[in-house]
Formats: sequence, structure tokens, C-alpha cells
Amino acid sequence: MDLRNKIAIVTGASSGLGVSFSSKLIEKGVKVYGLARRLSKLQEIQSHLGDQFIPVEMDITLHEKIDQWVDSTFSEDHLPQILINNAGLGYFGNIEDLTIEEWNRMIQTNLNGVFYITRKTVPLMKLDEETSHILNIASVAGLIGNPQISGYNATKFGLRGFSEALFKELRYDKIKVTTLFPGSIATHFFDNAGGVDTHSNMLQPDDVANTLIHLLETPDNFLINEITMRPLNPKNPDEI
Ligand SMILES: NC(=O)c1ccc[n+]([C@@H]2O[C@H](COP(=O)([O-])OP(=O)(O)OC[C@H]3O[C@@H](n4cnc5c(N)ncnc54)[C@H](OP(=O)(O)O)[C@@H]3O)[C@@H](O)[C@H]2O)c1
Repeated sequence: MDLRNKIAIVTGASSGLGVSFSSKLIEKGVKVYGLARRLSKLQEIQSHLGDQFIPVEMDITLHEKIDQWVDSTFSEDHLPQILINNAGLGYFGNIEDLTIEEWNRMIQTNLNGVFYITRKTVPLMKLDEETSHILNIASVAGLIGNPQISGYNATKFGLRGFSEALFKELRYDKIKVTTLFPGSIATHFFDNAGGVDTHSNMLQPDDVANTLIHLLETPDNFLINEITMRPLNPKNPDEI
């Protein structure tokens, strides 16, 4: 895809990966609708990225709000070609300590929210004669189960299944679907998740964003449907 003058929706644009994705897309000439709950953060990001970044205060777990926003923002003359399902969170800990609220919040954000926005965006993408692309941010936790992350594992394994099915469902509509499986990234993700200190050997958000740009820029009939990224040496340099 030639990214110039394309329109993207990036969920979770107020922090971490979402900021890097938005920034790299804008450098390539894309107009970005950045969705997140914290409007003040989005506005601060707009002051750095400029008017091609459009802040949208949105809780992706609220399907009626998503329906209203998509219906009032897009039309046949203004179609999104790129959807980045990035918003997500994790709560880590032993199963007996994981609360029902934490479990539900992970399911609502990492799975339901992805469904709510994807189901509204796909019909618009189907109207486009050009290729569109949906990129779902999973995690290596969508490939490998590990102690203390069972709930998060469940959502990211679920996202993998959702993505693989969609890739097969939408390929003949010229809509690409790619799932990204990154290892640990140095973002605010661990403020919630707990149990891990960020460090310089983690993946850096801008490097993940460069890979995302590469995925988007592949030729129209060339699809990378899954990609795994890891730090070569994952150990905290302060603890080696
Ligand atoms: N960091 C890692 O090690 C890592 C590794 C693999 C995969 N991932 C995945 O990467 C994605 C991005 O995470 P990150 O590392 O960039 O973490 P982050 O810095 O904590 O960012 C998470 C983003 O999600 C948004 N968000 C959370 N709940 C939301 C909701 N209900 N509605 C709308 N936005 C919501 C947050 O915005 P508001 O709070 O403003 O709503 C924030 O912008 C997630 O899906 C995560 O699972 C992260």
C-alpha cells in the first residue's frame, strides 16, 4: 500500500505503541484517528504530531459509542483503509488473585473492543476499491501460555483465532489481516500488569512501529499474516 493520503484508525493511541504507530503513520502522510479514553493525553500528542492526528475520546468497550462515532465520521467519500487494533491491557498474577473485574476488563478490552470496532470498519473497507489492512496487536502471550498470565493469555490466544479467521474471510475483499506477536515492549503496559520493571533490553515501541510500516507497505497481493518479534537478549541489563 502506498500510504500517502490514507486514513487510519489507531486504538490505544494515548500511550506506548499507539503513539509510535501514529507518529510513523503521519510521517508517511497518513491521517490518523487516534482513539483512547484519556482525551488530554491525545491532545498532548496532537500538539506534537499536528493536525493529521485527530484525537477521539473513546472507550472501545462501549459498542454504542463506537457505532455512533464510525457512522458520523466515515462515509463512501471518507473511508478508512487502515485499522490498528492496538488498545489492550493485562493483569498478571496467580489465578486465585485475579479478580473477576480484572478478568472481565481484559476480555472486554482485548477481545470485545476489537470485535466492536472491526465489525463497523469492515463494511467500509469493503466499499473501497483499493486494498485495506487490519493489524491486530496480540503478543507472544497469544502463542505461548505462561504462569501468572492466564487471563491475558486467554484474550491474546482468542485474538489470534479471531485474526486468522478474518484473514481467510476477508482476503477476497482486498482486505489484509495481520496479527503481530511482540515480546515485552518498554511501555506503560506494565504499570497495570505488574510484576515486571521495564528496561532497555525490551523491544522499543518505535522499532515495532517500523515493522508495522513495513507490513503496510508490502505489495497489494503480498500478505504477511503473522509476525513474531522478540528482543534478541531479553535480560534486564541491570540484573546481568
Ligand atoms: N508492552 C508490552 O510488553 C506488550 C507486549 C506485547 C503486546 N502488547 C500489546 O500492545 C498493545 C499496546 O500496549 P502498550 O504496550 O502500548 O501499553 P500502554 O502504554 O499501556 O497503552 C495501552 C493503550 O490502550 C488504551 N486503552 C486501554 N483500555 C482502553 C479502552 N477501554 N478504550 C480505549 N483505549 C484503551 C490506553 O489508553 P487510555 O488509558 O487513554 O484509554 C493506551 O493508549 C496492547 O494490546 C498490549 O496487549 C504489549
